[in-house]
Amino acid sequence: MYSEKVMDHFNNPRNVGEIEDASGVGTVGNAKCGDIMRMYLKIDDNGVIQEAKFKTFGCGAAVATSSISTEMVTGKTIQEALEVTNKAVMEALDGLPPVKVHCSLLAEEAIHAALWDYAEKNGIKIEGLEKPKADISEGEEEEDY
Ligand code: FES
Repeated sequence: MYSEKVMDHFNNPRNVGEIEDASGVGTVGNAKCGDIMRMYLKIDDNGVIQEAKFKTFGCGAAVATSSISTEMVTGKTIQEALEVTNKAVMEALDGLPPVKVHCSLLAEEAIHAALWDYAEKNGIKIEGLEKPKADISEGEEEEDY
């Protein structure tokens, strides 16, 4: 059912953890299943992502997509990171079963939420980035998780 790459990233997830002095942090929840993903990005003065880490409370596909997406955004500019869509993530994993496609959306949304947080903290606007609708790090809901 799963590709070798998915199993590899699920069994040996890369970049698990937190970045204490992260430039941006994004937390998103999947309305369909209740799973949660948090993405930490360290971005340098040139707008290049130096480090990405994640924490995911979710299914194996969510763990695998968050793992590979941290690898995909590292070393990229913010604009390039916006191209790490759920489609790109799925392709990099050699596909996901149809019922698991929604899991890959979490990775895209978590990256966007972290970039949005970075932009807000720095008072900048990132072209092509829309306010994430499901950033549960805002407001009091976070306490529930
Ligand atoms: Fe929830 Fe995959 S089933 S993210």
